[in-house]
Amino acid sequence: MVDKYLETDRMSDLICDNYSLLQVMSRFGISLGFGDKSVKEVCLNNNVDCHTFLAVINFVVGGSSRFEYASDMISVASLMDYLKQSHIYFLEFNFPMIRRRLIEAIDCSANDVSYLILKFYDEYVSEVRKHMEFEERTVFKFVDSLLNGVVPENFEFTTFSKNHKPIDEKLNELKNIIIKYYPAEKNNNLLNNVLFDIFICEEGLNLHSNVEDYMFVPAVMNLERSLRNELE
Ligand SMILES: [Fe+2]
Ligand SMILES: [Fe+2]
Repeated sequence: MVDKYLETDRMSDLICDNYSLLQVMSRFGISLGFGDKSVKEVCLNNNVDCHTFLAVINFVVGGSSRFEYASDMISVASLMDYLKQSHIYFLEFNFPMIRRRLIEAIDCSANDVSYLILKFYDEYVSEVRKHMEFEERTVFKFVDSLLNGVVPENFEFTTFSKNHKPIDEKLNELKNIIIKYYPAEKNNNLLNNVLFDIFICEEGLNLHSNVEDYMFVPAVMNLERSLRNELE
């Protein structure tokens, strides 16, 4: 399959073509205001590994069928930074924002469904936090060590990759509770907006897991393999 986006494309065209790439861009630490510069120039100016950036955006638009990406071409350090920024985005920005909007949209004192929705949401967020903190504490630490030329023997990366679970499923349940059971009121604009945020968040989390499974895992395995060969 031919890549949709190339390093010679204008960064602004890419964003106008597919606005969900804005999020990928910001997680790579690229800010707006790049004029007519190409993807390659913008990456260079922002110290971003262009191949990894292109691999992620082409994965975003091509879906998980793109997992044949040459994992030895990806910069593991760059991809891990991207994943860390995504964790920060969800935990520190996206989840609190959805919570604030939920409280605004549902009357928590008026009915039990509102209370249940908020409780369900808080429990869900704390599960995702655990999942992400585990990755930070163990997986990313392991990869940091690999990047410093050491293979830690106290962590099995393959065990992690086999047990890595998607994190967006419960959000789908929450959506269904709101859609099916929240008592309707005359003006549902606020609630519709928060539902919209939840749909986008679910998509983002699904993409996050896919990038981990189909791009990060093979790239790390590759790195571990070549390091072991080198050290032998
Ligand atoms: Fe993650
Ligand atoms: Fe994960």
